[in-house]
Amino acid sequence: MLLTERQRICEDVTAWTHELGSDRSAMLPILQLIQAKYREVSPYSMQVVADQLGIHPVEVYSVVTFFAFLREGTHGKFVIRLCRTITCDMAGKDRIAQQLRNDLGIDFGQTTPDGQFSLEWTSCMGMCDQGPALLVNDQVFTRVTSDMVHDIVEACRRSFGPLAFHSREVKTEVDQ
Ligand code: FES
Repeated sequence: MLLTERQRICEDVTAWTHELGSDRSAMLPILQLIQAKYREVSPYSMQVVADQLGIHPVEVYSVVTFFAFLREGTHGKFVIRLCRTITCDMAGKDRIAQQLRNDLGIDFGQTTPDGQFSLEWTSCMGMCDQGPALLVNDQVFTRVTSDMVHDIVEACRRSFGPLAFHSREVKTEVDQ
């Protein structure tokens, strides 16, 4: 029997609730799992989480909108987030931002037409002494240069195809 996406979300959230518990402390990890698997936290997902945890959907919505890493609406397979907090700003984040725009052909807040890349700003991620810093999905890159941006984007592009992307592949290739 084919499961609809809504059924899959229900089953996943039920399983994650059994695994992580059904109190409020489980909300953020469950939302992160939804984000990772479905690449968005849809209003329906929020409703399911609220039902499972016995809380009001508005509470779930407020968490989703508070944390920049959780998003309503679909975003790309690769979400590239560049830190724009002051230390990275002084370390040359504008140059990196422009390189990202050039390489991806999109601006911040946008997703490429093929749905592969989203480009976003983020706030300080604790790598201030190694800026400019950026994230590709959950992997941090520090002391980023324009050449590195090009390598990172190309490594992501090379991973397109039947194999699922794991962020370590990017790091491995860039580190070589
Ligand atoms: S200011 Fe960019 S990581 Fe802290």
